[in-house]
Amino acid sequence: YALLALTGVLSYLLGSVSFGIVVTRLFRMDDLRTIGSGNIGATNVLRTGNRTAAFLTLVGDAGKGALAVLLARWLLAEDAAQLAGLMAFVGHSFPVFLRFRGGKGVATALGTLLALSPVLGICVCLTWLATAAVTRISSVAALLAAASSPLWALWLRPQAALLCLVLAGLIIWWHAPNIRRLRAGMEPRIGQK
Ligand code: G3P
Repeated sequence: YALLALTGVLSYLLGSVSFGIVVTRLFRMDDLRTIGSGNIGATNVLRTGNRTAAFLTLVGDAGKGALAVLLARWLLAEDAAQLAGLMAFVGHSFPVFLRFRGGKGVATALGTLLALSPVLGICVCLTWLATAAVTRISSVAALLAAASSPLWALWLRPQAALLCLVLAGLIIWWHAPNIRRLRAGMEPRIGQK
């Protein structure tokens, strides 16, 4: 149990590293939280016009979810890997390094799912990509990918269905401001300021 607790804490700390903040600071850009939606994710980094920074944020935030899963699986077992993914997600949403004001966790959840079950992760990523291609709105893609993930899991990886349900619930919850903007017809398209 000590090792499980340690893995949980490490995953949380790993998840707490907000790559949006790290990358935009490295690029000497303005504080991300004063730009666009104020969110710390790759979508908002893209609003600065810097694609490289947005890409690095996406890879970093997804990578930390994947890394937490792979570490826990290596140190412990599959159940621990799921818990580690969840803890990395919680870290992203409530980062200790940013006074617990974090992001919506979409990239981190995608990385977690990719590492837990590549086929499940790829299907959820494809749902995001297909929706983004049609609507050009990141939050709609995130909402649809999140909402469909428990169904994909039931089909492809039933052991991960509960985790997907929890992640989907949290992601939808975090998107409340986006849902309000969508209803008002005010949600910007991808890359739009
Ligand atoms: O991944 C977050 C995305 O779905 C919404 O980001 O900046 O438009 O709130 P944002």
